[in-house]
Amino acid sequence: MRSSGNSLTGKALLEKIRSDFIGLDTTYQTVGGEQTRRIYLDSTASSLMLRPAAHITADFMNHYSNTHSKLHHSAHISTAAYDWAHERILSFVGADPDIYTCFFTGSGTTGGINRMARVFRDVHPEKDTAIISIMEHHSNDLPHRKHMKHVYHVPVDGLDENQMCISLPKLEEALRNGAGRVSYVSITAVSNVTGIINPIHDMARLAHKYGALLMVDGAQSVAHLPTKMFFPDDPDACIDALVFSGHKTYTPGSPGVVVARKDHLLAIEPEEVGGGMVDRVLEDRYQVKETFPDREEAGTPNIPGAIALATTIEILDRIGMQTLMEEEEEVLEAAINEMASIPEILVYGGTDLKACPRAASISFNIKGMDHGLVAAQLNDYFNIAVRNQCFCAHPYVKEMMSDDLEAEFGEIDFGNMSPEFMRKAGMVRASFGLYSTLEDVARLMAALRDIIQNGETYALDYELNSENDYVNTSYRVENEEIFSIVGAIDQYIGD
Ligand SMILES: Cc1ncc(COP(=O)(O)O)c(C=O)c1O
Repeated sequence: MRSSGNSLTGKALLEKIRSDFIGLDTTYQTVGGEQTRRIYLDSTASSLMLRPAAHITADFMNHYSNTHSKLHHSAHISTAAYDWAHERILSFVGADPDIYTCFFTGSGTTGGINRMARVFRDVHPEKDTAIISIMEHHSNDLPHRKHMKHVYHVPVDGLDENQMCISLPKLEEALRNGAGRVSYVSITAVSNVTGIINPIHDMARLAHKYGALLMVDGAQSVAHLPTKMFFPDDPDACIDALVFSGHKTYTPGSPGVVVARKDHLLAIEPEEVGGGMVDRVLEDRYQVKETFPDREEAGTPNIPGAIALATTIEILDRIGMQTLMEEEEEVLEAAINEMASIPEILVYGGTDLKACPRAASISFNIKGMDHGLVAAQLNDYFNIAVRNQCFCAHPYVKEMMSDDLEAEFGEIDFGNMSPEFMRKAGMVRASFGLYSTLEDVARLMAALRDIIQNGETYALDYELNSENDYVNTSYRVENEEIFSIVGAIDQYIGD
């Protein structure tokens, strides 16, 4: 599938599409009764949908068919588009199609990591250990605990060193201690808490030096940084498997993606079996396809989701990930520099971006205020959407907060955490996407300064609900009045 070659690229394309996301103009009512535009600073959880991807996928639906069908026009068109989606992603992440395959699985990164943990376990059954880090999201921790016999968590450097980055010497020490037993290392490319960027190619070299494979959790990197998996002249720097989420890559509704070396996958029977991945099935045996990605995609895949994601990726690639990264850096740098200059704000992880580069996420607290109260006030008074709590990364958050929490609550009993403790044990996270602007940062910073000054007064209008969340009692927004699926159906169908 070729482009005419006449369309926009680079910054010109970025300027055209940066505001073309569904949800950027959404408005809600704030406490004062004003209807204002929502500022979406929760892209690390899920990013907004790139409108052209939604439109183009809706056009594609005119030709939708199951890709396991063969001889009608729609089957040809769907199969070609679905094949293109795989090829597009391989080239986006710098993976040679002769060596790597791309397949879709689950609804995000979690499905892919579970899958590849089982694959790596079975490829090297003689090795029983996985190395991960304390920084990982639970989805890049629990699958290894479940599927491998031993999991070692590499620590992060302390506050006075590299400020919560994974320690490379400690990674090497773990690999050396486990030599011969470590099947693989699985590391996030970018933390979903601090946004800290890990040197994944240096980590690949270390893993390979000790005979281990490297899996990269790309959930927070693929949409924000250039990705390159394969280096023909530097095999030790290559990534063995990369997993990421379409819904964090500006395409909610799309599947999770795995890009992995074919030789590893071919060494074992596919982890999932069913229709589409076999050549022949008899009552007493079956023959698995040798061809990729079919052998890894049992059952009917999420074809429209994959096509939507590849459409987004084509557009990101036409802009250029280096250009995108630089644009996003400007927004993140403005936010972190201003936050770090306010004594009442505690930013987690190193704030010197040269020593400790970051992408997309900043987690912080306003000193003395509960994370949930800050997040609720940002939403209710300022229409700013952020995430709070521990972001499915409890060990890392604990590492950064335990001194402060122990000073307040004494020794922490993780089997018995009080509601008061839970309201303190967490952070607020502001996260950015390619649609985030310096104006969004200015709105966030103005809101935080206001909360620092007036938050205690606003707090008088809050009570805690049964889930230990703060609820404003002075106003109520009825979700059903803003949007209801059944209401939308009634409206569509009419009388
Ligand atoms: C670093 C990281 N890894 C894995 C995941 C899990 O992704 P998903 O929920 O799409 O399965 C997330 C989600 O936030 C994440 O941030």
